[in-house]
Amino acid sequence: MIPETENSPLPDREPTVTEGIKYAGSKLKIIPRILDLAGQTGARTVLDGFSGTTRVSQAFARSGYRVIANDSAVWSETFATCYLLDHRGPDHYRPLIDHLNSLEGKRGWFTERYGAEPGTGTSVGMDGLKKPWQVRNTMRLDAIREEIDRMGLDGIERSVLLTSLILALDRVDSTIGHYASYLREWSRRSFNELRLEVPRLIPASCPPAGHSVTRKDIFELLPEVEADLAYFDPPYGSNNDRMPPSRVRYGAYYHLWTSICLNDKPELFGKAMRRADSADPESGSVFEDFRKGDSGRYLVADAIERLVREVRARYVLLSYSSAGRASLEDLREILSGAGTIVHAEAIDYRLNVMSGMRWTNEWTSETKTPHREVLFLVEKCN
Ligand SMILES: C[S@@+](CC[C@H](N)C(=O)[O-])C[C@H]1O[C@@H](n2cnc3c(N)ncnc32)[C@H](O)[C@@H]1O
Repeated sequence: MIPETENSPLPDREPTVTEGIKYAGSKLKIIPRILDLAGQTGARTVLDGFSGTTRVSQAFARSGYRVIANDSAVWSETFATCYLLDHRGPDHYRPLIDHLNSLEGKRGWFTERYGAEPGTGTSVGMDGLKKPWQVRNTMRLDAIREEIDRMGLDGIERSVLLTSLILALDRVDSTIGHYASYLREWSRRSFNELRLEVPRLIPASCPPAGHSVTRKDIFELLPEVEADLAYFDPPYGSNNDRMPPSRVRYGAYYHLWTSICLNDKPELFGKAMRRADSADPESGSVFEDFRKGDSGRYLVADAIERLVREVRARYVLLSYSSAGRASLEDLREILSGAGTIVHAEAIDYRLNVMSGMRWTNEWTSETKTPHREVLFLVEKCN
């Protein structure tokens, strides 16, 4: 039995070194807790089923686990390929990155749509729309993106350079951390020059190797993989009924990273110039669904139940938010139906404190407080 922790500070240990973009729901802050709990299961192989920024996958890989990273997003697959599959190391990439940094900027598809001159003081471009980057940086983006396609790279090299480009763009953006809308006033960082760096690659010798990367809907993947531990961090939507669903959809938030990876110059719509395939009827995941099913329970809760039932892993570690659609009571019911909840805790980001979880009314009301991240560790029954 894993001991319960109660109102104790988060471990005062340097979080494992990871890299990633600004991301809604990134688990950067709780990586030490995730590693502690995973360590107590004795697992060697971990499935990160919703890998997002891949920070958690990176931390698992650096800690010696064999990792299966999966996410439905194109750019997440690019990041996972960079961090988990590269075997050449940083020296191979330095000259390639230097070459990309030395290119002259040029006007192209990205500049025409996502760049504005800084001179006017606002981010509003010639077409009257707010833009996420200053024009000299989108011109560098246009030149670099075109060159990456011309360099004759293999899939891993391409992923490393694209990851480097996305990380660099994330450092000079003028957003609040997503691309569903842009700031009117330029952010301070948007005045900086776009500069690529070699990603902090994970040494290939980090045992044991043999990671794998997939880009699938999780339910398509589950019958194909087995792991000792499955870490699930699905989107949790919002329990605010007035919030339009498109506001909490990952496809809508990070459409630009997809366009940069694919360089497919897609059809766009709306003020944020989103990809047409990130529109509500096209995109979205059952985990982002805001409706209730016939049973009266949110469809999200049904999806989580299916996830835990179908995964072939002895342990499941589930991250969720107290602000999510599925209630904590739903989760407790679902998880205890699938096995034994060996550990549960809530983490308050603002106070940097975690508390052991007890199924009392008091606790349940406490966890209705927004910004609490909940972690459940379940040992499945066979
Ligand atoms: C909360 S985020 C994961 C964040 C990640 N743990 C991190 O630290 O960056 C949820 C992720 O689930 C992905 N996703 C949504 N629906 C999915 C599905 N049906 N199958 C696989 N991935 C999905 C989204 O693209 C998003 O990256």
